[in-house]
Order: sequence, then C-alpha cells, then structure tokens
Amino acid sequence: MEEKHIKILKNLGFDISQKDLTNDYWKKRGADALALTTQDRDVYGCIDHTQGEGVNIFDVEGTEYLDVTGGVAVRAFGLRYKPYLDFEASINDVVKELPGADFDAIPQTLLAERVAGITPGNHKKRVVFTTSGGRAVEGCMKSAMDLSGNRRFVTFRPAFHGRTGYALALTSSNSKHKSGFPQGVDTVRVFYPYCYRCPYGTTEEDCSLECVEALRYALEVEGNDIAATVMEPLCGEGGLIVPPTKAVKGIYDLTKEIGAFFMSDEVQAGMGRTGKWTAIENHGVVPDYISMGKAMGGGYPMGASIGPAPMFTGGSRHSETFSAEPKMGLLSLWVFKHMEDGGYLKKNAEHGAYLLERLGELKDKHEVVGDVRGLGLMVGLEIVKDKKSKEKAPKLRDRIVKNAVQNQKLWVLGSGQNVIRLTPSYIITKENIDDVVDRLDKAISAEM
Ligand SMILES: Cc1ncc(COP(=O)(O)O)c(C=O)c1O
Repeated sequence: MEEKHIKILKNLGFDISQKDLTNDYWKKRGADALALTTQDRDVYGCIDHTQGEGVNIFDVEGTEYLDVTGGVAVRAFGLRYKPYLDFEASINDVVKELPGADFDAIPQTLLAERVAGITPGNHKKRVVFTTSGGRAVEGCMKSAMDLSGNRRFVTFRPAFHGRTGYALALTSSNSKHKSGFPQGVDTVRVFYPYCYRCPYGTTEEDCSLECVEALRYALEVEGNDIAATVMEPLCGEGGLIVPPTKAVKGIYDLTKEIGAFFMSDEVQAGMGRTGKWTAIENHGVVPDYISMGKAMGGGYPMGASIGPAPMFTGGSRHSETFSAEPKMGLLSLWVFKHMEDGGYLKKNAEHGAYLLERLGELKDKHEVVGDVRGLGLMVGLEIVKDKKSKEKAPKLRDRIVKNAVQNQKLWVLGSGQNVIRLTPSYIITKENIDDVVDRLDKAISAEM
C-alpha cells in the first residue's frame, strides 16, 4: 500500500504502519470488530482497498488475484475503470445529498425512464429506487400486495432474494440465512426447475413439466390467493441453476391463470450479465415486476423496484432515504450508456459462450465436474463425487475453492452446496478466460 494511503488512515486518527499490513493481522482485527463476513476467513485474505485494476485485485500483503467474482456481480466494468472514474470526477461538484425518494430531481427521473425503457414490455411502468437488492425485492413485494390485495407469494427451493424481512421469507438457499428468524410473509414453496437433479426424477427426454404440475397441485391444496410468483430467471446463490425456458413459461402461464403477478428477481442476473438487459428475456416472458441491483450502480449501492403503473399511488406509501441521490443516479445513467456504446450485451453473450465452452473441457477432463451451465457471464460448475452417482461433493468444492484462491490466486466463490460460481466483470477478455480455466483446472487437479 502506498504511503499516501497509510497517511490518510493516520490523518483519520489511526496509528497504522507498513509493518501492520498482513492478512492475519487484519483478519483477526476484523473478526474482533465485525459481526460477520459471509465468506470464510480461512480462505480469503484482507483486500487492499487502495489497489486493483480491471479484473485484478490485491490483498494487503500485495498478492495479486484474478477476480472472477466481479465483486459478487457488482463491478460491471471491473476495478478502477478509467472511463467510469473520469465520469465520476466530472460530476464531483453535483449536489450529492438530495434524498431521491422525497423530492424531485432530474437524474432520478431520467434513470427511471431509462430503466423502464430497457425492461421487457411496453406497458406503463413505475420505478422506485433503492440502495440494495433485497430492498428492491421488497419494494416489488409490497406493491404486489398493494395492487392485488393478496398477501402470499409463490417462491422456490433453492432461491435467494435477500436476508432482510420480506425478502428473507422468500429465500431458501442455506439454513444459516433463515433458521431462528420468523417468516415475514406466507409462501407457497416449490422446487426450482433443476434439470441436472430433477426433484421429480425425470430426465430431459421424459420431462412432462412435473415442476409446473407440482405448483398447480400446491395452489390447489394450499390456495391460490397469491400476490406474486417471485422467480430468479437464473438461480444464483442457490447453485447457479439455469431453468429450462418451457418450465419458466409454464410457471408464468400458471401465475397468470390464477390472476397473480409474476416477478423476476434480476438483482444478480440482470443488467446485461446474460447478454440481455434482463435475464428473463432469455425465457421470452414479460414480468409484471422486476427487481434490480448489484451492477446497476457500477459499484455504488443502487437498486430498483420496477412495477406496473399505478405503483404506490399516494405519497409516503413506500420510501427509502438514500435512494437515487443525484450522483448515484448520474453514475447509473453512465453505466447504461456505456453498456450500449461498448456493445456489452453482445460481448457478454460471446464471452459467456466462450467461458462455457472452455469450462466444458474441464467437465470432459475431470470426473468430479458433474455439470457446467450458465447464461452469458453467469456460469457454474457443479462438483460431484463422480459423474455417474452425481453425489454432491461440498467438501471437495470447498477445497477446490480454497486451492484456487490460495494457490492459483484466482478470486472465486462457491454457491449452493457444491457449485463454483463465476460472475466476472464485463471487461473480461478471452485471454483472461483462458487464464481462469487454466487456474481452475490446476485447483481441481490438485484436490482430486
Ligand atoms: C437474486 C438476488 N436477489 C436479491 C439479492 C440481495 O441483494 P442485496 O445483498 O443487495 O440486498 C441478491 C444478492 O446476492 C441476489 O442474488
């Protein structure tokens, strides 16, 4: 870390010097001070907040990593992306401190129009801005209850929609997130369409959409007074599962049949990651509600609940203090424009296809890579004991991730119980992808 950054900490009143810059020291201090980290401190070092470029991050000891998490799908254009930094510098003197939900200001109105324009459907939409994905989900949920008069939601297993209140009630990807907390809203929960491990025991050849029929049965016996069906168009945290389009369509049609809203949670998969602005477009249905977050602000906390007009008619029905402040609004508008100017939808589709193809080689080579799947730049490898039994191998997955991070210097995350998840920044190149595959190959070989 450069001396000037240490000086900044010193000027803020902390007696820190170069000799304190070790992973162990900061992990211990973090563990003493912070309530949690979601990831294992035994695996990851302490990130240097002053270094990093593109897809490369550093820990405080100066070790460089190739980052394939994209900041958990947040950093659309990687770290310290020069055009983004230049734009940010050019708006340094805008008035930042204007609470967007309380008063009108130009950036948020333009952004709402922009968001409505890129999301599917020509119907009249309304937008509420948020500072997190979970709140974006909850904004949609509240409006769906408001407009339908119903209080219950259809949701899936696995599913991840956030860790607070109503959003947590929909989540079901890890008992750690849920156990001991009350259920915020009532749900009808069915299995997420997961062909590699079809919960109904069918294969793709003999599939009769048992997952859709299971939902039909659940609604028949539990009641169909549903506000909305809430679905990830591509299940992220729950294990990087790509549902077949015919199942999504079937669930959508059934939702419409009972007169409920359909909501696509695009917090992780949206914002162009899959090669389409919203990932639900891959399935050809037009959702009533969309929640967005993560990459939308290019690194700043920014999310949106998009719903049908009228949405929250009447002031004060819903609000969030720090939403769409002018600087964040302008930065998000820049992200949208740059996505278009740089042709990133096409690039993400192409690079995603290449990543999938190259990871397919690892599936052919390694008995423990049971499945490789994804859409665009959202890809997962399912780690199993062997291809025939498909038995989940969570401990092996954890060892591979640890090896990848510590030995191959590949900053990578797991998802679900036994999946390795890749959600790189959109600036990733084919050369980077070859490098990622090479490092993963080494990590898998070393742990088998
Ligand atoms: C699909 C989905 N919805 C909601 C969330 C919650 O977003 P946040 O952590 O910003 O509240 C996430 C976060 O990973 C997500 O992947």
